[in-house]
Amino acid sequence: MTRPYLLAATDSEPAKRFYDVIVIGSGIAGLTAAVGAARKWKVALISKSVLRDTTTFLAQGGIAAALSDQDSPQLHFEDTIRAGAGLCKEEAVNILVNEGPSRVRELTEICPRFDRAGGDLVLGAEGAHTVPRIAHAGGDATGSEVASALAQALETGSRVQVLEHEFVVDLLTNGGHCIGAISLNLKTGAFTLNFATATVLATGGSGQVYSLTTNPRVATGDGMAMAYRAGATIGDMEFVQFHPTGLYSGESPIFLITEALRGEGAYLLNHLGERFMVGVHPQAELGPRDVVVKEMVRQTQESGQEFIYLDATHLGCTMLKERFPTVYERLQEKGYDLCHDRIPVAPVCHYMMGGVVTDIWGRTTLPGLYASGEVACTGVHGANRLASNSLLEGLVFSDRIVRDLDKYISSMEEEVRRLHIDLPGPAREGNRAEDVAEGLKRLRKTMTANVGTVRNEEGLVRALNDLRDLHNSLKSPGADADEYELYNLLTVAIHIVKAALLRQESRGAHLREDFPEPDDENWKHHINFRLKSEERAAK
Ligand code: SIN
Repeated sequence: MTRPYLLAATDSEPAKRFYDVIVIGSGIAGLTAAVGAARKWKVALISKSVLRDTTTFLAQGGIAAALSDQDSPQLHFEDTIRAGAGLCKEEAVNILVNEGPSRVRELTEICPRFDRAGGDLVLGAEGAHTVPRIAHAGGDATGSEVASALAQALETGSRVQVLEHEFVVDLLTNGGHCIGAISLNLKTGAFTLNFATATVLATGGSGQVYSLTTNPRVATGDGMAMAYRAGATIGDMEFVQFHPTGLYSGESPIFLITEALRGEGAYLLNHLGERFMVGVHPQAELGPRDVVVKEMVRQTQESGQEFIYLDATHLGCTMLKERFPTVYERLQEKGYDLCHDRIPVAPVCHYMMGGVVTDIWGRTTLPGLYASGEVACTGVHGANRLASNSLLEGLVFSDRIVRDLDKYISSMEEEVRRLHIDLPGPAREGNRAEDVAEGLKRLRKTMTANVGTVRNEEGLVRALNDLRDLHNSLKSPGADADEYELYNLLTVAIHIVKAALLRQESRGAHLREDFPEPDDENWKHHINFRLKSEERAAK
């Protein structure tokens, strides 16, 4: 049911651009890949919005790496594997924890605002880490500090062509290779064929499949969906991480209250004012996210109250304002005083562990296509990501992609330049804007009601039927970004549901109330999807 091509051709011949590398997306993974690749290659970085409109920019906690004497890559490895609930790929985790410290040190050289004491990085604690290992910048403004520093490196120190407001509609393939992407300029309405020897997907996650998410509006799963349409394998789609402490407010994007606050000693309290995580996990509030969320759900079901409380009132106002300036200010805007109030919080969709399957060099199963960051499934997160491993993953694997590009491009360059692409059929009429908006609401409603923190067969079947009905009710998309996003979200949502239905066990972030235990014998493996070649024949 996936349409192999979203593009409606225009009457006029689209313009063509030629690059060695295009990078799609401008979070930490995209910026790192673009800056690195541009040292040697002609590179374009394409963003459907503006450079800073990314999930990276919103990240508060920081970047995990073994940077202190009391820590080691081995300890970081063990914590990551334990949190991943049996599904991490050990080779990829080994790379992450061993290459991570050098990548973070390099980053601190271009990003001066990492927090230090006496010259040493200050390292914070977060859930399921056995030692403090989270480097942070500007207190709780790590993402914006890092993104701004990398964007500056891109703009002043490199020759990357930055293309903003350019929506990548589909990947171009030829002879089993990815050879670039078709984009729609959101200001002029013009399509362009961007030919590239190698394409790096760094489009981030897909949190917009749920009604409430910490992800920005742009996180619509575009990269996962377009890679799938182009024939690449996607996997681990059932593993969607819900963060325990989204501010309970009913507005999306939900404001995230960083786990680092619990790292500094904040409590989670139930409606009776009890620290309910004590006795549930040896690390209490700092247990792995899946364990904390599961207990929060139990507590709210028992009390009938939709939220629990985050309490930092015992930590001291001076420290709170200094260490968490962003959280403090945003809560004030919402009418809460972090120093004196208990803050209502609830689990909220935060991160996609699954995505476009890659090997340890960021190569997808489609030659010429790489993926890095949240769009990728490198296997480092398994069924449940360890806090603050995501920015690290983008840094480490984009660096590896840059190294691999040299080999790939030298073997491919000339062939790509000779290619001729036939665009598909005449322009289509598309869907009415109100039908697209209604479709989006319906998609989110069914995902939120049936495919949230706790799942069961009945709800998953209901969701799958509803998503299929929605898909069938839509016309082929015209030339409109909202329609493309809806189609991309549908592709992602359908695969989340299909994988969640198949996996008849509970593991990590995937909780099935009808199969409450893990089942290693039958399910200690990954669920992957790949579009059959006959379904892609139109390409
Ligand atoms: C947080 O600051 O709690 C989020 C960090 C992460 O998702 O890794």
